[in-house]
Amino acid sequence: MTGATGQDGSYLIELLLAKGYEVHGIIRRASLFNTERIDHVYQDPHETGARFFGHYGDMTDGSVLARLVEEIKPDEVYNLAAQSHVRVSFDLPDYTADTTAMGALRLLDALRDHVQRTAREVRYYQAGSSEMFGAAPAPQDESTPFYPPQSLRRGQGGGPLVWRELPRILWPVHL
Ligand SMILES: NC(=O)c1ccc[n+]([C@@H]2O[C@H](COP(=O)([O-])OP(=O)(O)OC[C@H]3O[C@@H](n4cnc5c(N)ncnc54)[C@H](O)[C@@H]3O)[C@@H](O)[C@H]2O)c1
Repeated sequence: MTGATGQDGSYLIELLLAKGYEVHGIIRRASLFNTERIDHVYQDPHETGARFFGHYGDMTDGSVLARLVEEIKPDEVYNLAAQSHVRVSFDLPDYTADTTAMGALRLLDALRDHVQRTAREVRYYQAGSSEMFGAAPAPQDESTPFYPPQSLRRGQGGGPLVWRELPRILWPVHL
């Protein structure tokens, strides 16, 4: 799981652990503590029966994403990492696009290489926002055209845009 220390990631970790999953969370390195939301699920990885494992990683670094995919061999991947603050995306446009859109592409690329090499099946979840559909009438589904407001085009819409444009070349990854 990317974005493991975020709001949604912390709840999803709790849910998956309750379902009996082994969970590997990617944690972005910072010089200040940034794991308050998941401190309660932390387990010493050397303890017998530990089912949550944290790994340093960053969506801007494709090499670590590829290495972690190879090491962890995930059955399911949840991509929740994002520079998710819409207004801040105007201050940090390059970083927001690099993390949220290009980051999703790097992760999908690592998964494609992994499943093509190993023939394993991997399911992939991409976090997005209903705002991606803008004013498109409900109910919306995978075939509804994206029409995000300008504020979202550089941020939360990026990951889903990459995700939906790539399925044909990523056929072994269940999107
Ligand atoms: N929570 C909501 O109400 C909501 C609504 C719409 C969309 N979303 C989307 O769902 C996802 C999760 O939302 P959230 O509320 O948990 O966000 P959040 O800001 O609480 O968490 C974002 C996570 O991404 C990580 N991250 C940021 N930049 C990174 C980088 N370069 N490399 C690795 N990790 C990085 C952060 O460390 C954090 O763990 C995001 O994609 C967000 O846009 C959430």
